[in-house]
Amino acid sequence: KPYIVIMAGGIGSRFWPYSRNNKPKQFLDILGTGRSLLQMTYDRFREIAEPEQFIVVTNQGYFDLVKEQLPELADNQILTEPLRKNTATCIAYAAFKIRTVDPNAMLVVTPADHLILQENRFIKTIQSALEAAKKPGRLITIGIKPNRPETGYGYIQYLESDNHHPSLKVKTFTEKPNAKLAKTFLESGDFVWNSGMFVWNVESLIEAFHKYMPDVADVFEEGKAHYGKSDEQDFINRAYSQVKNISIDYGIMEKSDEVYVILGDFGWSDLGSWHSLHELREKDEHNNVIEANALVFETENCFIKTDSDKLVVVQGLDHYLINEADNVLLICKLDAEKKFRDFVSSARKKG
Ligand code: GDD
Ligand code: MG
Repeated sequence: KPYIVIMAGGIGSRFWPYSRNNKPKQFLDILGTGRSLLQMTYDRFREIAEPEQFIVVTNQGYFDLVKEQLPELADNQILTEPLRKNTATCIAYAAFKIRTVDPNAMLVVTPADHLILQENRFIKTIQSALEAAKKPGRLITIGIKPNRPETGYGYIQYLESDNHHPSLKVKTFTEKPNAKLAKTFLESGDFVWNSGMFVWNVESLIEAFHKYMPDVADVFEEGKAHYGKSDEQDFINRAYSQVKNISIDYGIMEKSDEVYVILGDFGWSDLGSWHSLHELREKDEHNNVIEANALVFETENCFIKTDSDKLVVVQGLDHYLINEADNVLLICKLDAEKKFRDFVSSARKKG
């Protein structure tokens, strides 16, 4: 029985101001389904896992939110981090801790904030990844056919197999290429996107940590004496202050020669920005998504969302975002995702 490790510690700054430090996007009902992205991730994996098989890794500040949204989980299934040290650290914590209870555990590691449309096909893909991950040493990724030269993803080049095996050996893994390289990858037709979901045996993964991130491995090995004990959090707080901030993609996936990919086709999207959310949501006849008390004239391709009853009157806009949340009103180009870091940090300075 696999463990489902949900990484839910990001801050979702590209959905600002809707997504805030005190409630980032994985905790929001971004799709308007009545369930947050975290809850939807949990629901999806319930097909193959019982509640006690889930582990959520998140920031200390979000513990209560996770408890509230997933009341099925016991406190010890929520691992809390004192600092954001990125996915390699988050995965190391979960893996080294799980190994102390089950040295043969299979892990499915998943982001908390992705959209998956065809859940049955998704589950089948995960099952064949779990099968493939039984071979010692293998790190399994799920690849998605790309449709644009996105620079925010990892790109996987794989070797064609001759034995019809679903897992294909990875030749190169390139995290977040520049625009020119992304274009070359897309045009070559030999690459798939890394979905950001990983399947592996805990021992295979820990071996990879020792090989490619020995500093991190050493720190979390020391935790053996503390996982599951009353001083676990103290140990983790110390451990997190010692490790550097790096993602699993740069830390291990780009370097390892034991990476395999299974091609997935299940209507996947990383809900990474307002722009990508707009593409997915249902739109009116002018291609607008409107979740506001709005009067709209000669306006198309816009996303208008407010959290109040305030009447919003809009004229003559094309491709704009209007979002009011918690006393912030943002009006910007719908595809301005590269600017959000600046928006958020400038807004912080202004107080
Ligand atoms: N607990 C925890 N702690 N979770 C974290 C942390 C952390 O420090 N940092 C990020 N996460 C969570 C995020 O909330 C998200 O669910 C997931 O880990 C992935 O992090 P992102 O920051 O969203 O990564 P990315 O989208 O830039 O890139 C990754 O995903 C792409 C596909 O969506 C990479 O794996 C790419 O290669 C991949 O293409
Ligand atoms: Mg992401």
